[in-house]
Amino acid sequence: MTTATTTATVLEASGVTMRFGGLTAVRSVDLTVNTGEIVGLIGPNGAGKTTFFNCLTGLYVPTEGKVSYKGTVLPPKPHLVTKAGIARTFQNIRLFANMTVLENVLVGRHTRTKEGLWSALLRGPGFRKAEATSRERAMELLEFIGLAHKADHLSRNLPYGEQRKLEIARALASEPGLLLLDEPTAGMNPQETRATEELVFAIRDKGIAVLVIEHDMRFIFNLCDRVAVLVQGEKLIEGTSDVVQGDDRVIAAYLGEPFEGAPEDTALDAVEAAEAQAADADADADTDTAEAPAAEAQTADAHTAEGDTK
Ligand SMILES: Nc1ncnc2c1ncn2[C@@H]1O[C@H](COP(=O)(O)OP(=O)(O)OP(=O)(O)O)[C@@H](O)[C@H]1O
Ligand SMILES: [Mg+2]
Repeated sequence: MTTATTTATVLEASGVTMRFGGLTAVRSVDLTVNTGEIVGLIGPNGAGKTTFFNCLTGLYVPTEGKVSYKGTVLPPKPHLVTKAGIARTFQNIRLFANMTVLENVLVGRHTRTKEGLWSALLRGPGFRKAEATSRERAMELLEFIGLAHKADHLSRNLPYGEQRKLEIARALASEPGLLLLDEPTAGMNPQETRATEELVFAIRDKGIAVLVIEHDMRFIFNLCDRVAVLVQGEKLIEGTSDVVQGDDRVIAAYLGEPFEGAPEDTALDAVEAAEAQAADADADADTDTAEAPAAEAQTADAHTAEGDTK
């Protein structure tokens, strides 16, 4: 029986180091994420953020250090990490381009379905029941992220921002206790970014802890209970948004001029203008809700998710 684990540690990474030949991309990084937390990971390009995620998720075997999830050391294999309860999205979107939106979410569920090959081939009652449950669950997730109306669309036809959301739904399909997001708002407009902020809060409210990498400082500091800063592979500082925002070393190493200037204010104005416009459009749209053709659709590379999951 699990008692109410209010401040239990979900993720504990200690002394994680990753070397590539002579390059130390991540150097002795400690990081914990507790139940109910949203933790941010920031740092300049090449600081080692994605590499650190890859160490957490078994894509890389760290040169040194260990990673535990809810008190158990994780084996460095992506599918076992997923099974244990950590799900992730990728900086470069990895969807199955020629599968539908719904199918992409179903792929994310495979670690949680125990129907084996024979059951699937014979399509017995056990399999059909499991399949129906999976579809139901996948549709709930699509409702949750606001893509249920596009369940039958091919994922490559989705606009970029929706592809990022779909990646989140697919990650959630594995029923994680911790979600790792690698630049979830990259390429999004300010309105989509703000919606993603709300989505991450909603995910946290479902009891899923979140660790998120982002370059958008407004997004990070609005969202996160704690923020860790990586610079050249090392953790420079970790603290609440207020502490990190005000730290001179962070400002010097990372935030610099752009954060001090006013681009965010411009972005905020843009959001508000866009929202006002959307509200007007909603009011006008009595009948015609036809979707725009996916003019800006990008072709997502079809990857076999996480190489060795097969
Ligand atoms: N597989 C690899 N082999 C060799 N070097 C690598 C490998 N993966 C990452 N690196 C190097 O490790 C360093 C950290 O890269 P990483 O992608 O983790 O940075 P990042 O903080 O995610 O940057 P960004 O904000 O641009 O995404 C870089 O110098 C990168 O070139
Ligand atoms: Mg990265």
